[in-house]
Amino acid sequence: MTKDSFSNKAEAFEAFDDTPLSPAHGDAIGAVIARRFSRRDLLKGSLGVAAATALFGDAALQSALAQPKPSFTFSFPAVPAGVDEKHHVAEGYDVNILIRWGDPLSEGKAAFDPRALTAEEQTQRFGYNNDYIAFFPLDDRGTRGLLCVNHEYASPEVMFPGVGVRPDRNDFAKITEAHVGIEMAAHGVAVVEIVFEGGKWKPVLSSKFNRRITASSEMTADGPAAGHDRLKTAADPSGLKLWGTLNNCAGGQTSWGTYLTGEENCNGYFWTDQKGADGKRLNKGLGGAQQKSYDRYGIPSNWYSWGKYHERFNVDKEANECNRFNWIVEIDPHDPASTPVKHTALGRFRHEGAEMIVNKDGRVVVYSGDDSPFEYVYRFVSRDAVKLGDKAANMKLLSEGALSVARFNDDGTVTWLPLVFGQGPLTPVNGFQSQADVLIDARIAADHLKATPMDRPEDVQPHPTSGKVYIMLTNNERRRPEQTNKANPRPENDFGHIIEMTAPGGDHASDTFTWDFLIKCGDPKVAKMGALWNPAIASDGWFSSPDNCTFDSQGRLWVGTDQGSAWSRKTERADGFYAMGTEGEERGLPRLFFRCPVGAEMCGLCFTPDGQTLFLAVQHPGTDGVKDWKPFGRESTFEDPATRWPDFHPEMPPRPSIVAVRKKGGGRIAT
Ligand code: FEO
Ligand code: CA
Ligand code: CA
Repeated sequence: MTKDSFSNKAEAFEAFDDTPLSPAHGDAIGAVIARRFSRRDLLKGSLGVAAATALFGDAALQSALAQPKPSFTFSFPAVPAGVDEKHHVAEGYDVNILIRWGDPLSEGKAAFDPRALTAEEQTQRFGYNNDYIAFFPLDDRGTRGLLCVNHEYASPEVMFPGVGVRPDRNDFAKITEAHVGIEMAAHGVAVVEIVFEGGKWKPVLSSKFNRRITASSEMTADGPAAGHDRLKTAADPSGLKLWGTLNNCAGGQTSWGTYLTGEENCNGYFWTDQKGADGKRLNKGLGGAQQKSYDRYGIPSNWYSWGKYHERFNVDKEANECNRFNWIVEIDPHDPASTPVKHTALGRFRHEGAEMIVNKDGRVVVYSGDDSPFEYVYRFVSRDAVKLGDKAANMKLLSEGALSVARFNDDGTVTWLPLVFGQGPLTPVNGFQSQADVLIDARIAADHLKATPMDRPEDVQPHPTSGKVYIMLTNNERRRPEQTNKANPRPENDFGHIIEMTAPGGDHASDTFTWDFLIKCGDPKVAKMGALWNPAIASDGWFSSPDNCTFDSQGRLWVGTDQGSAWSRKTERADGFYAMGTEGEERGLPRLFFRCPVGAEMCGLCFTPDGQTLFLAVQHPGTDGVKDWKPFGRESTFEDPATRWPDFHPEMPPRPSIVAVRKKGGGRIAT
């Protein structure tokens, strides 16, 4: 989600996810694997198998073993930087629209009509603002699979007729209870079976797997905070029966075939009736037992009107509902009747995502950024090791383990600081009565441990085999010169950077890593920006605000960008999807592969195991930054949007969509 994706009004800006709330601070993956681990190791089920299957599945690994030696070189003609109403892909590639907001997930439904949309209809259709994507193969040929997709938030100004421009955070008068119902149903996750037929991927509307999970779906919780008093509400005295998942941003994929989704800016959905002297709804200093926690998490932020119609989102009426969000949720896409689980052991903060790797000792490690300015990078290490083929046991792995937070030392090392009740400052003296308190208030615990405040940590992605971990730091224009540190060295960091961490000996559970910069973003021709790129960078190649990243079937890094509304003022180039060299002569050298239409953000990025299809999530087309884009020059509305991508039909507003990209004639992408 962009920092300013909901409103551009100055007073509203304060409440969004760029508001600092922390205390003031100064060829084929198989070949890559085979090179590093012997075939004997692979077959006996040590790291190679585990690490590879974490991302690509058993079938992918088996076929990959026969592949030629890897190449980290990308081969495709770069897309020119720029912005217009359409998407653009590298020459020689096809883009197909796989699924759009409002498309049905079952047979026999009418074509989508946004003017006739109801909450009930929305629960049976693809949701809004698609973000993270994961692909789970259903066969060995790579022609069927389940796609899991996050639906992060709603953009009412282009979803609903007659509601006008972007709402203020307070009292958006034209949003009715019916609108709120649709918004709630448009959030969450979609599971959809897809098939490759006739040279194209398409949804299987008859699939038993197709499912929508929304802001109202029943969930449960496990781990140390499950059932704790602070998770109990009037509607759920057990603290174990929860409803809904919110602001699902990025996520992860487990080696046992389940999906992880990160709850990010959940504060925005909570509401108070209390107003300050200026007549505005309060967003801090409410008073009450949890005031310190509320203030540290930005609760309430009053971005949506849900609290008007649903008491659980009104903190004056239900003080604990907010503690039931901002977790990592595990969903089994292969079992449509399964109940999603919120894993409290992974801590409560504004989770960008939850990328997993199986460590060399078999324990699973999950990395997660807390996406706000001056927030932290976290790591979870499971207590137990993965059991190959035992899904039921593996689905308990995220229930118990060690959560820690990163301190980036000036000497190039990273210290992982454990968040354990009773250790160091995490005691009753500082307000912690239990491990549940430490996890519910993980941000406050991390403050006490003196973790390093970062420039909006988004995706944190371990390479499947190299022991490297890449951290996308989107930007932080609020960092002042006296607040810089070695790992966040630029004041007013408008453009972001990428840090490369190294787990020693590939041990992702080690207490100490090392770190270095991969790149510092911005225009390399403008010296004062202090950008760091490969000297061979092309004038069209540089980018700003790295957000999501992924590895392709050859273990090569790719990066998606999210500039928010800043692109129209600071770069004049749309968000996109970039190949990103990490090794040898191409290290630090990006190249644009796909460019978003105006006002859109590049979200989910997912390659199929054979490397021949790339799924990309184009989020909020036509919204961010369009007022400052000269060819349009005003805010988008349903009736008058900056683009009608992807349908370009005069009656249809822009629609967030998943696209499938393939090389003309087939073959691995970028080879
Ligand atoms: Fe939802 Fe941090 O992007
Ligand atoms: Ca993101
Ligand atoms: Ca990722």
